[in-house]
Amino acid sequence: MAILVSGGAGYIGSHTCVELLNAGYDIVVADNYYNSCPTALERVKEITGKDFRFYQADMTRRGDVEKIFQDCPDIDAVIQFAAYKAVGESCKKPIEYYSNNLNCTLNILDVMREFDCHNFVFSSSATVYGDPECVPITEDSPVGRTTNPYGTTKAFTERILNDCCEADPKLNVALLRYFNPIGAHESGLIGEDPNGIPNNLVPYIAKVAVGKLEKVHVFGNDYPTPDGTGVRDYIHVVDLAKGHVCAIRKLTQNPGLVIYNLGTGHGYSVLDVIHAFEKACGKELPYVIDPRRPGDIAECWADPGKARTELGWQAQYGIEDMCAHSWNWQSKNPDGYAK
Ligand code: NAD
Ligand code: WQD
Repeated sequence: MAILVSGGAGYIGSHTCVELLNAGYDIVVADNYYNSCPTALERVKEITGKDFRFYQADMTRRGDVEKIFQDCPDIDAVIQFAAYKAVGESCKKPIEYYSNNLNCTLNILDVMREFDCHNFVFSSSATVYGDPECVPITEDSPVGRTTNPYGTTKAFTERILNDCCEADPKLNVALLRYFNPIGAHESGLIGEDPNGIPNNLVPYIAKVAVGKLEKVHVFGNDYPTPDGTGVRDYIHVVDLAKGHVCAIRKLTQNPGLVIYNLGTGHGYSVLDVIHAFEKACGKELPYVIDPRRPGDIAECWADPGKARTELGWQAQYGIEDMCAHSWNWQSKNPDGYAK
């Protein structure tokens, strides 16, 4: 039995490959390297001492996905990470985002049906909750009031997966709603490697710490939060990766459609994160207060109780470990994978 990891060379995918291999699963990785590179997968092999099958494949192409299933009849579950993920870019290129993100999943589901494969884990996001009415956010909170095309691709895909489960009682789907993944494997061999200037807070701070960017821009300090800056539920990417192993185990119980928040249940402000990173890298990090970023919300953190109860999963790492591991990765790889 094997698990197809679609988009497995990316940030969360590569960490999930490590945890799946460590848990004893066989994996088949597929990626078109749109936002990743072969080095990440070489490093996965180095960390785990294990080998696996790889396909350079565009998951929007039926022929590419069919070939994987034809070659690997042992695939009995898919974890679907492949997507474009830059919020700002999605506002400028909605056609590309809807096309890639929806078609990867639709195409894989169609081929899974052909090959009698019934287990699917989907990378969703807390972004599906939009601006939440209250925090912490439970899985029952309203979904769909998204604020950008990227987020809407996640909400639409969730809806598609709901409909597919209604239509096919054999299909099992786990919708995993990630909060804010940060950090890196503690070896410092794999981590987040954004192209160009990072959009997200922690990769940006890491680039300031390593001397590639001048100062952190804090987007607004007039939110109704304790220090006025935005509050988020940052989760260590290794904890997140382990959540996928738990979800795969859950699907063996034939649950149909299940939904879990993967977060820590704690919120940290932008300034909390800057200070935790300063502690990790041992230097003061310059920052300026800028206006709010359009579309941002004040605060967002998870109620992770359902994942704890039903998956037996709970985040282990705190914000200091997350920053220490981000720094370990960034300082050992100042140019990322240099792809
Ligand atoms: P990533 O860009 O590092 O990984 C995505 C991978 O998918 C990349 O390796 C990319 O090359 C590949 N890919 C994209 N389109 C493809 C296609 N058509 N065919 C084959 N491969 C393709 O992103 P990530 O941060 O690892 O995110 C993984 C998943 O988790 C995404 O679906 C993302 O939307 C979701 N997610 C990410 C976050 C986050 O903050 N990083 C939060 C919530 C949800
Ligand atoms: C965090 C906080 C910013 C950058 C995004 C997506 C979401 C999910 C995770 C995929 C906010 C502030 C940021 C900076 C700053 N991705 N900030 N200066 O916006 O919570 O979530 O990534 O699914 O869909 O929207 O993450 O890291 O961009 O921002 O002050 O340079 O840091 O305002 O309060 P966000 P982020």
